[in-house]
Amino acid sequence: MFASLVLLGLLIFFLVYLLKPQRPKNFPPGPPTLPVLGNLLHLSTDDPLKDFERLRKSYGNVFSVFIGPQPAVVINGLKAMKEALVNKGSDFAGRPQDLFINHVTQQLGVVLENYGTTWREHRRFALMTLRNFGLGKTSMEDRIHEEIQQTIKTLEKSIGSTLSPQVIFHNAASNIICQVLYGKRFEYNDEMIKVIIKCFTDNAKMTNGPWAMIYDSLPILRKLPLPFRKAFKNYETCKNIAFDLLKEHKETKVPGEPRDFVDCYLDELEKKSADSSFSEERLAGYSLDLYFAGTDTTSNTLLTGFLYLVGHPHIQERCQQEIDLVLEGKDQVSFEDRNNMPYMQAVIHEVQRIANIVPFSVFHATMKDTELMEYSIPKGTMVIQNMKSVLTEEGQWKFPHEFNPENFLNEKGEFVKPEAFMPFSAGPRVCLGEGLARMELFLTMVTLLRKFKFTWPEDAGEPDYTPIFGLTLTPKPYRMKVQLRSKQ
Ligand code: HEM
Repeated sequence: MFASLVLLGLLIFFLVYLLKPQRPKNFPPGPPTLPVLGNLLHLSTDDPLKDFERLRKSYGNVFSVFIGPQPAVVINGLKAMKEALVNKGSDFAGRPQDLFINHVTQQLGVVLENYGTTWREHRRFALMTLRNFGLGKTSMEDRIHEEIQQTIKTLEKSIGSTLSPQVIFHNAASNIICQVLYGKRFEYNDEMIKVIIKCFTDNAKMTNGPWAMIYDSLPILRKLPLPFRKAFKNYETCKNIAFDLLKEHKETKVPGEPRDFVDCYLDELEKKSADSSFSEERLAGYSLDLYFAGTDTTSNTLLTGFLYLVGHPHIQERCQQEIDLVLEGKDQVSFEDRNNMPYMQAVIHEVQRIANIVPFSVFHATMKDTELMEYSIPKGTMVIQNMKSVLTEEGQWKFPHEFNPENFLNEKGEFVKPEAFMPFSAGPRVCLGEGLARMELFLTMVTLLRKFKFTWPEDAGEPDYTPIFGLTLTPKPYRMKVQLRSKQ
């Protein structure tokens, strides 16, 4: 009896040992792992940012965690981030290929495409097209201004009262990217946009939640009719909508006279050979990618910006003084004007720094066996950037933990951008929409601050700046009071 118990004990011990994920030799350190679960119990789904900070304190700027059986290296701080993303950019420019989200999106887009020819050709094409000259007669700046006029109309309806800016900014960002992609805007209550947003929000929640973890950790369950199947259906619905828009474009387009991104891609498709990486299916996936990558990021940055500006009226007023001075006699602001507005530039950058909109960037993967800060990292390892660790790193900022535009101003009041400012990430995978996003943020914030004064409602208590965690960080819902400014 005793011998059987000892044997059983030994068997369990070996099973646990064998099933327990093991760190390869000279791999970055991290917390002890459990069989199957890895380090999932060390990471909360509500706010893993705090867990990462705790683990960073224990294990240093480069540590590892197991998401189920999958090892992931977490990079913190400017030094490690630069070594990985810039100095060894091509080693670290891959994307994990076997996660829930890869399977849901059928490897169609570009955001999750691995580092290789398809990614390179598509990235180059988008960068060219998104530059002002790529999009035909209407420049990017005009498209953005058209949408800001719609935002102004909506805000004007609330003058003297309070409103929640969430839907307004979301619609503005959504319509700007729709103007770029499809050459048209959609009304606030458009059924098609509502379906796309619902499918996307549900999928984002699922990607962050336990079902995606189960899918990733236990491949054996992937084909079963479990709740994660809904995400595949949602993506299919979005893809069909993208195909309908594509069909409409094919029927109405004039060759050589592109109206928007989709027309440009269709023109390109005609020029390409049969074995090219360009295809209608990829165009559908690509347009969805750009839509999602460009909507929540920009709108949540604007939401965070106005939250801080109503909470810091003296900063809002200083922006308005600069805007009035620089734009005196001008009908509308242009992106060029930013060069004469150091304070406004500093405020927008400070908003982006404090907002930390994409807290873990998009996961990277190593393309070959490589090294980081003297640790060995095998090919195919998942790499997670902890963006907050750089955006609030002590030693890199004058005021790392407070909202203060002085972080971006020198003694002469000139605008300066510290190296640790990387909300768009860095290296070969740096955000493809950075130019568009910066233009949107500048033109929107300046135009709205020139026309309106935004204040915190007297009866709303104190502003709560704690964000809600997700693929993007979102401010808690808030209301603000809108008044017309007298001096413009
Ligand atoms: C304030 C707004 C934005 C922020 C903070 C932001 C941030 C980011 C970050 C951190 C990444 C991941 C980079 C990496 O993997 O290292 C990324 C990737 C990307 N972003 Fe943005 N983004 C913003 C707006 C936009 C817009 C407007 C577009 C649309 C045109 C866009 C399109 C993309 C695409 C396509 C990628 C994938 C690039 C690649 O994999 O090569 N983003 N963005």
